[in-house]
Amino acid sequence: MAGKKIASRVSRHAAASQPSTPVSQSTYPAGSLLSVTHLSLEEIGGILAAASELEAAAPRDRATLLEGRKAALLFYESSTRTRTSFELAAKSLGVVTTLVSDKSSSIEKGESLKDTGITLRALGAECIILRHLSSGSPYLLARETGLPVLNAGDGMHEHPSQALLDLRTMLARLRLAPVSRNATAISKATLRGVTVVITGDILHSRVARSNALLLPRLGARVILCGPHELLPDEAETLGPGVSIERDFDKALARADVAMMLRIQTERLAGLKLNLQQYTEQYQLHAERLALYAPHAVVLHPGPMNRGLEITSEVADGPQSMIEEQVRHGVAIRMALLVRALQPGTQEARA
Ligand code: CP
Repeated sequence: MAGKKIASRVSRHAAASQPSTPVSQSTYPAGSLLSVTHLSLEEIGGILAAASELEAAAPRDRATLLEGRKAALLFYESSTRTRTSFELAAKSLGVVTTLVSDKSSSIEKGESLKDTGITLRALGAECIILRHLSSGSPYLLARETGLPVLNAGDGMHEHPSQALLDLRTMLARLRLAPVSRNATAISKATLRGVTVVITGDILHSRVARSNALLLPRLGARVILCGPHELLPDEAETLGPGVSIERDFDKALARADVAMMLRIQTERLAGLKLNLQQYTEQYQLHAERLALYAPHAVVLHPGPMNRGLEITSEVADGPQSMIEEQVRHGVAIRMALLVRALQPGTQEARA
């Protein structure tokens, strides 16, 4: 009985999290999440509300929601947080998962993304969670397979589920809107007056892009911070509400949320970046935080380079919400899986 009640409430939120008006997403299978720009505020509210419903549900009831449904995790890049949280989220809903990684599959023999996707579909996958090194690959996979695709990070493009879990973390910590079952709580004023400073390797960061595209729509001001090598002037054109401040101390002094990004040392070839100078100017360390942002919430999508963009003292300190950020990932990803696999979306696809 309790299971049925949860199913009905989650379906209501999931229905709100489906596009109600035609958007570019509508050309892709229903339930896909390829970009945060495809989500209306109503849909974002629906996802957040479903996440809260699912998190609060009894594990036994949750496990029946998508019992026996099948999802494939297709990962062409390493991942700890995203992969594990999608997998745990799926399993807690009763979904049967299979992991296909580029390291131990026929991808190593040169099989294309399209053929891999079609093969997974033939094997019964009803949804694919894709991490890929090429920007735009989730769009291709969704088009070629007709299955809902959840973008788990594509190249330097987007990481939409990360932005949603970052949003949930901020809402919980700043207590601006309840992280509750109320889907209507999200509006263009939800984050009004909140300044989020994103610092580091903006150039290569899909997390920065998704957050910069999402948060201003809820009223936040997003300040991007970093040296020219990692933050081109053009980044300011990501949208209204996004600006650049090169001086970290000045940016930090305005921050309600300080989101630090990993320096992607594997992508620095060809860039003239002096890491020692970078650390002096942009590292978030305890003295800097205490001086300029003693009340800010500290976030980092991970993995962290401790001692480079952030010190251990800050990462493990009282202002850090980094561990909590990871925990929010499971609830958000449960909601995204329900959205992708709920019966309504299946009918829409047929
Ligand atoms: N935040 C994030 O994408 O981390 P992983 O690479 O470990 O999934």
